[in-house]
Amino acid sequence: MRYLRLFYLVRRRSVAAVLVSGGVVGGHEAFTRSYGAEDSAKAEFETSSKFPIPQDYRGLAWQIRNDYPATASKGDAPWADIDFKKHPERFCDVIKRYCMEGNKEVDFNVQNNKKRNWYHAAWLHYAENGREPLHGLTFERPVSTGELSANQKRPLQAWTCGYYNELAATVFSRIWKDGSSPQWDDHVKFPNGAMVFKLLMVDAKDDEEAPILKGAPMWDAVIVKERENYDDPDTWSDRNDYVSKVRLLQVDYAIADQRSPIGWIWGSFMYDGRRKEKDPWERLTPFGLQWGNDPQLDQEAYEAGARVKESWVNPAADELLRYLHSSRPMWGWNGRLNGPADNFISACASCHSTAVKTTSLPLLTQDSVIHTKRGAYVPAGCKNGVTPGCDAAAMEFFRNIPAGKPYKEGQISADYSLQLMMGWINYQHWLKDNEKEGWVEYVMRRVTGRPRYVSTRRLARMGASPTHVNSDE
Ligand code: HEC
Repeated sequence: MRYLRLFYLVRRRSVAAVLVSGGVVGGHEAFTRSYGAEDSAKAEFETSSKFPIPQDYRGLAWQIRNDYPATASKGDAPWADIDFKKHPERFCDVIKRYCMEGNKEVDFNVQNNKKRNWYHAAWLHYAENGREPLHGLTFERPVSTGELSANQKRPLQAWTCGYYNELAATVFSRIWKDGSSPQWDDHVKFPNGAMVFKLLMVDAKDDEEAPILKGAPMWDAVIVKERENYDDPDTWSDRNDYVSKVRLLQVDYAIADQRSPIGWIWGSFMYDGRRKEKDPWERLTPFGLQWGNDPQLDQEAYEAGARVKESWVNPAADELLRYLHSSRPMWGWNGRLNGPADNFISACASCHSTAVKTTSLPLLTQDSVIHTKRGAYVPAGCKNGVTPGCDAAAMEFFRNIPAGKPYKEGQISADYSLQLMMGWINYQHWLKDNEKEGWVEYVMRRVTGRPRYVSTRRLARMGASPTHVNSDE
């Protein structure tokens, strides 16, 4: 009874507090202001992973680096002088070195990189696919059965972590300057020279399942419990309580570069176990580059023999596709660039052009495509024959949207950064979840005299691992 009354009083007070604080505060902000949930937003911002580390694990726990710099020195872009259309392979070589330098030696624990600073995207821990605790990997679209070899009889789990250079991290600094109260009011645009890459690993068990991954670098990870398919995202937080191995498949990157019509150059490497380099990290073959979506190349043009002009696909990548006896017909849609773990009905720049500030995930690809009797894949709109404009809806996804402009008018652009978008969505989900708990928080605070959210006991109850754990300590 006492609690009930207290609750009632509290409620009235909080309304007053909102009024006193003036300004137009929305329902949710009112909660955070009067209940001190800011502390907990900050604690979440600092959380590396919510998933527990298996007891027998003896390695390093992953730690997020999100002390984003407000400014960065320019001139750290060794690719800037290379004509990427004329010398794509040289361009890719420089990128590979840039990603590996100082990172490989420290197993991509970027805090220890002595060569340059790298950072992680914020808030990727708070989701069903959220960061696992050993390498900060998030769970991505699985690699479908048969895509990496005819012997691959089950979908493979794909796990990834992204790393942002200093210039790229300045954009995060603007939004997340205050981890307890992020600000995102306008379109973002990454400065020229900003660069981000991500490593993508799969849980292939042996060389039999994916012979191309023979000898690939391996990492420990706490992955999703194995199941027949991973179609239901609600089950993705159901993780093992032991350590598994994941192997390097792909390295993706994006570079903000004003020479590109969309302001970005996309590129990808794939691990190739047939290569002879001693160091397995060096056995990455450039897949290609993409600097535009070829908006003119619709289904009709493609079938009339037109080909991409704004992607360079390495002939070695096409050879790989044949070697794999893969079930996929092409890397990216009608010859555009895409990687082995990506959906072939899409392309790097196309999917990423949908990145905006939003509270729920938008559609990232064209609608499903149809496999016709004559063996071709066509967009759903062309199922009754390839007529002019039959794929107009699909081609919406292959526009050349300039950097810093939103996918649709009225939206706020995330400038092609899907991790920025996903982090924001996760944060919004947390706000919602927290709103429900806001009243309880306030009451508890009144009764116990201390905030509830930041207690490590509570974090532990929620299955969180502390930000910095070294099991050797
Ligand atoms: C169908 C959608 C889709 C396609 C196609 C796709 N990606 Fe992504 N990509 C994502 C999503 C979603 C994320 C964010 C979540 C994550 O990293 O797990 C992401 C993240 C990234 C990041 C981290 C930076 C950021 O903030 O977005 C890079 C770099 C990247 N992708 C490069 C590529 C490259 C290169 C290709 C093509 C070879 C590609 N992507 C194809 C969906 C896609």
